[in-house]
Amino acid sequence: MWSIFIGVTFLTYVATECGHTHSTEEPYIFLDAKCPPSVTTVSGSHAPDVICSGSLIFADEFEEFDFETWEHEVTLGGGGNWEFQYYNNNRTNSFTDDGILFIRPSLTSDQFGEAFLSSGRLNIEGGAPADRCTNPQWYGCERTGTPTNILNPVKSARIRTVNSFSFRYGRVEARAKLPAGDWLWPAIWLMPAFNAYGTWPSSGEIDIMESRGNRNLLQNGLNIGTQAAASTLHYGPYPQLNGWDRAHWSRQNELGYDREFHRYQLEWTPDYIKFSIDDVEMGKVDPGKEGFWKYGGFDNNRNILNPWRYGSKMAPFDQKFYLIINLAVGGVSGYFPDGLQNPTPKPWLNSSPKASTDFWDGRESWLPTWGLDQNDGRNASLQVDYIRVWAL
Ligand SMILES: *[C@@H]1O[C@H](CO)[C@@H](O)[C@H](O)[C@H]1NC(C)=O
Ligand SMILES: *[C@@H]1O[C@H](CO)[C@@H](O)[C@H](O)[C@H]1NC(C)=O
Repeated sequence: MWSIFIGVTFLTYVATECGHTHSTEEPYIFLDAKCPPSVTTVSGSHAPDVICSGSLIFADEFEEFDFETWEHEVTLGGGGNWEFQYYNNNRTNSFTDDGILFIRPSLTSDQFGEAFLSSGRLNIEGGAPADRCTNPQWYGCERTGTPTNILNPVKSARIRTVNSFSFRYGRVEARAKLPAGDWLWPAIWLMPAFNAYGTWPSSGEIDIMESRGNRNLLQNGLNIGTQAAASTLHYGPYPQLNGWDRAHWSRQNELGYDREFHRYQLEWTPDYIKFSIDDVEMGKVDPGKEGFWKYGGFDNNRNILNPWRYGSKMAPFDQKFYLIINLAVGGVSGYFPDGLQNPTPKPWLNSSPKASTDFWDGRESWLPTWGLDQNDGRNASLQVDYIRVWAL
């Protein structure tokens, strides 16, 4: 969409006035149809200097792995759900091939041996800048395995543009094929670059795509595995008070999102956030004048301070966010609820004090569904053809 760029600059020019000639500095209005202004703002080492409305401001086609754009997270701590994966920077778990990014799970025991899981000590802090542990939270940099609490049994990857590119408002499109394999949890999402309103979830979280790798996971007869893809906003004054359920949408696809590439889309403006798959709208939230405090229903809690009271109506979604692509496994926070129908039962309970051990002990049920021994494990990989961001 074109609009007219009204810019202001100061030109020194010569004017004739009442017969006198003088030189002066005056504001000069110019029109630049080639670069209409945009409300989108950006930061980071790979952010463009000039932003024109509608222009592409970030793109990775994954022709090669751009380590300047994508930082690998290195942590045992996962995403706060006590998931079972260990994120590392290793081409077994993240690589590009033929223009596609693969995030592929592998077994930790392949590298360290099985006995290591229940007796080893894993300290993942490295000396080189790219080997540093990126998240010490939840015992993220060092763990010791015990028989009841084994070390993270799966290795995977999570990459982010935290230093290279963050933006506020825009359109995102990621073309991806989702993994198949029980208890895999792929995601393409955004996290706040500066936590302007405080720690999670006060500063928000925008999940463009989340899914579950189980091909036949049923909840009340509905497939919530590979046949479902969801988008969600997380926001709230503290973790126990999170209004995500009022900003969560899921779409079914009978073939399964693991069979073909689909385009997962976000439209994020100063007025609304809209999620689509393949150009078909899935959900949209316009929080209205009273913002996400009211939209989330937090206004009933009179003794809690609204962290967004000095922000715009979109707060906390009125600040810069960065991109994340990852593949998690399991976890105990309820993303994989207990008691669902699956061809083989879920091997751990979310209340289990030894969930990772239970998961590993049940590998005969889930490992064959990953097909790691065929086609280099591509079916169990999150595959991304491209991710692009445009200015509004
Ligand atoms: C990368 O992962 C593979 C497979 O687990 C492992 O064999 C290899 O040692 C790892 N490389 C490093 C440098 O850790
Ligand atoms: C991988 O997925 C394809 C469909 O996308 C399927 O035909 C094939 O059987 C799968 N392979 C394994 C090992 O599951």
